[in-house]
Amino acid sequence: MKDLVEEINQLKKEKDAVILAHYYVMDDIQDIADYVGDSYYLSEIATQVSQTTICFAGVKFMGESAKILCPDKTVLLPEVLADCPMAGMADVDKIIEMKEKYNDLAVVCYINSSAELKMYSDVCVTSSNAIKIVKALPNKNIYFIPDENLGRYVASQVPEKKFIFNEGFCHVHTSISKENVWKAKIAKPQMKVLVHPECKKDVLELADYIGSTSGIIDYATKSKSSDFLICTELGVLHELKEKNPDKHFYSVGHRQFCPNMKKITLEKVANSLRNMETEVKIAENMRTRAFMPLKKMLELAN
Ligand code: 13P
Ligand code: SF4
Repeated sequence: MKDLVEEINQLKKEKDAVILAHYYVMDDIQDIADYVGDSYYLSEIATQVSQTTICFAGVKFMGESAKILCPDKTVLLPEVLADCPMAGMADVDKIIEMKEKYNDLAVVCYINSSAELKMYSDVCVTSSNAIKIVKALPNKNIYFIPDENLGRYVASQVPEKKFIFNEGFCHVHTSISKENVWKAKIAKPQMKVLVHPECKKDVLELADYIGSTSGIIDYATKSKSSDFLICTELGVLHELKEKNPDKHFYSVGHRQFCPNMKKITLEKVANSLRNMETEVKIAENMRTRAFMPLKKMLELAN
């Protein structure tokens, strides 16, 4: 294990590579990463690093987004089969149909989406900036893809716009039930409930705080409370415990585990750097079209 970490550090120098990791990957991967963060932070930092190679410890849409934004860099996915099922849960024909049906429509695409869906979208968002970006759009009608729960949450915060929803979902977040949140609250009433907006509406209604993985970590770190119920994937516990060794974090059930994020191992990261694989490749016509909504997100989020 120590040898593998040393090898990865050596390979990073040899290959002029940087490792980006999402909070949901395993603890040992977060420990060797140069940057760890939520989806927005990782897409922005990809555009700012000086290294010529990015090894992306995250699911496929994250590596794809980095490549779309940084075409001159080599972007590597240590495990090409680590894909987010939600990324494909919308339909290009339906997007085209909605564009024809509604005047003044913006197609707002959660970054958890394939490059193909991004091609047909007007702007990308993440859970940390979706409300701000939708509010800033001049359009009255919003077609929000692919995540229905995030879309409905954003709609509740931007009542002046008309939303059309799509039926995509995250199986990890929708596995969290309001009954289990209630049970945990009854056992520890002082506990603050921190919820990711990919959760269902009835869970969001029980939240003390709703936000992205970074938002949840920041909230718990700044809070005077000491007990928190974590309603997102449990990879965030690594950073939460590191920043808050005296606070207590509780889970809701046994399914807060993203099997795709957990496919990435130290061995796969080392192998990826050794052999410079698997390189993200996107056809240039697709890349230039998918670039527009991502670029617009970076502009509107700041
Ligand atoms: P954030 O880290 O942006 O909150 O995204 C959560 C997620 O589900 C990523 O797949
Ligand atoms: Fe996709 Fe959910 Fe896993 Fe995030 S946690 S990568 S949204 S399946």
